[in-house]
Amino acid sequence: MGEMRKHTQQVVIDGLLFVSMLALIGTGIVLEFILPPGSRQQSAVWLTRHEWGSVHFWIAVFFTLIVTIHLCLHLKWIITSYFKKKN
Ligand code: HEM
Repeated sequence: MGEMRKHTQQVVIDGLLFVSMLALIGTGIVLEFILPPGSRQQSAVWLTRHEWGSVHFWIAVFFTLIVTIHLCLHLKWIITSYFKKKN
């Protein structure tokens, strides 16, 4: 993303965060309500609970990576806010 404008870069990162959070919630709902523990080899949308667990896990890994990038892009803001004089 070397050539990308800083604002465009942050919009892309925040978009990825939004979409992966929706995917985490969706797969989390499948794991909790549609294929609860003990659902064995039953499947929903072609995947078993075990496979949905793997999908949820890898989305969570991706999400964590993007959160880290988001925090790095705002590192200056975080540092200046932390050291800001009170009043
Ligand atoms: C930062 C966000 C999240 C992380 C890092 C995360 C991570 C994980 C991991 C590693 C597992 C185990 C998956 C496996 O079986 O391999 C899991 C399970 C699960 N997650 Fe998430 N998750 C996140 C967000 C969510 C959200 C938003 C929901 C709900 C909407 C959710 C609901 C669940 C459920 C229901 C399970 C199965 C628990 C069980 O075994 O009964 N997760 N999560």
